[in-house]
Amino acid sequence: MSIAIIYSTRHGSVFKCAKIFKEKVADEIRLFDLNQKKHISLTDYNIVILGASVYFGRIQREMDRFCQLNNRVLLTKNVGLFLCAGEKSLKRNSYLSLFGFDLFTAAKIKRVLGHELYYEKLSFLEKIMIKLRTGKDKSYSDLDYKEISLFVDEINSLK
Ligand SMILES: Cc1cc2nc3c(=O)[nH]c(=O)nc-3n(C[C@H](O)[C@H](O)[C@H](O)COP(=O)(O)O)c2cc1C
Repeated sequence: MSIAIIYSTRHGSVFKCAKIFKEKVADEIRLFDLNQKKHISLTDYNIVILGASVYFGRIQREMDRFCQLNNRVLLTKNVGLFLCAGEKSLKRNSYLSLFGFDLFTAAKIKRVLGHELYYEKLSFLEKIMIKLRTGKDKSYSDLDYKEISLFVDEINSLK
């Protein structure tokens, strides 16, 4: 089975998760960064994993666009969805529908994998907003390795 992981990231958390999947599942997995490549042919892949991160309640525009443009083809594949997001409440899982309701419903696997904060990379305004919202003013990693490990198992079960 050929697997593609197509992701969008701003500071690297989503890429970190994608790399873990490549390491743990199969080295042949192809990684595609939507910031660098907008048109990706899905013909060769049976399993397509889409990963993005949430900023102000939305996923990256390029992922949104990719899902809309490729919706019909994606619905013929085994799709997995993952997100990096800081939300801790039950609302976090509803973020997965940001990939589009059709994909959310059809996806075989879907998980929110925690988050990281790259404080130095934020704009001045973002720093203020994050400080007000979370009280944090330093970089930290809070990826959910239990969820990541379950996601790995679930990709393996699709193979
Ligand atoms: C300015 C800013 C806004 C954010 N907004 C949200 C949000 O609305 N909901 C949420 O769950 N997480 C939010 N986050 C957390 C990010 O989703 C988290 O930092 C994630 O790990 C970023 O992944 P990336 O580096 O791959 O883009 C926000 C983070 C920043 C810096």
